Amino acid sequence: MDLETLRTQCLSCTRCPLHTTRTNVVFGQGVPTAEVLFVGEGPGQSEDEQGLPFVGRSGQLLDKYLFAIDLDRNQNCYIANIVKCRPPHNRVPEAFEQNACLPYLRAQFVLVRPKILVCLGATAAKAVIRPDLRITRERGIWVDKKGTQILPTYHPSALLRDETGEKKREAWQDMKALRDRMKEMGIYPGQEVEADG
Ligand code: URA
Repeated sequence: MDLETLRTQCLSCTRCPLHTTRTNVVFGQGVPTAEVLFVGEGPGQSEDEQGLPFVGRSGQLLDKYLFAIDLDRNQNCYIANIVKCRPPHNRVPEAFEQNACLPYLRAQFVLVRPKILVCLGATAAKAVIRPDLRITRERGIWVDKKGTQILPTYHPSALLRDETGEKKREAWQDMKALRDRMKEMGIYPGQEVEADG
């Protein structure tokens, strides 16, 4: 099995009712050998229309954060979601919808074999790390699961709603921690800048 075969299977999925209201399945996008996998919640309207993850406003913000730490979905990372079909009115996907869809994410994880997984928002963090995780308390705290380093952080749409700037500051701290962890692991794709003296 490779990612393209899995994508083909996923495109005709009818495992949950979300298939009846979708325009496109949003399987995922990125480099099949990526060291870092970003996981969001589920497609929004733009993603449903285009069949690609994080292409709306929150995706544009995500791309900016990635760019700042030398990550790029076309060069060195992979982006997926907990559910591959848009929940109507962008509601949080129900547990049974998440459970129906999670085998696709698990298979993507097995095929991509990332060393780091970044959970974008509470839905992804609860599904991947622990159902009772609290994102405001536990963002930025790394979790090791069977050798994979997992970082929960805010969803970019929460950053778009952030009026005080506090969440944006915390998210940027998380991105710097991600960059440092990639450096420690020898998988940082950007230039290491030597300190003077
Ligand atoms: N929000 C998500 O969680 N995923 C997307 O792909 C887009 C917006």
